[in-house]
Amino acid sequence: MSDTQTPRPRIVLCRGQYCNISRRADLLYEYLQVLVDDAVGDQRPRPIKLEIANCLDHCGAAPVVVVYPSGEVFAEVTEDQLEAIVNRALNASSARQNGEDDSA
Ligand code: FES
Repeated sequence: MSDTQTPRPRIVLCRGQYCNISRRADLLYEYLQVLVDDAVGDQRPRPIKLEIANCLDHCGAAPVVVVYPSGEVFAEVTEDQLEAIVNRALNASSARQNGEDDSA
């Protein structure tokens, strides 16, 4: 990987005290893992990374996901939104691998 290459997309799910009320974030993360596993299979390295945060400073909009490198914030996330978020991240990853600029 060159230093100028766009970083691999990361989907960061908050599992802080507001986002995880009634284990909502735990359940979303489990679903997120299933979605990504289904989409990428055994592909290594994985085209997108999943991470957990303790708080993403958008507690009033819980549960929250932030996607990097764009920094796009998704508020009051549902399972349906997760599918769209994963698809967008996969598209960004494909564009990255093809050397395309995904900033448009
Ligand atoms: S607890 Fe999730 S954004 Fe703060």
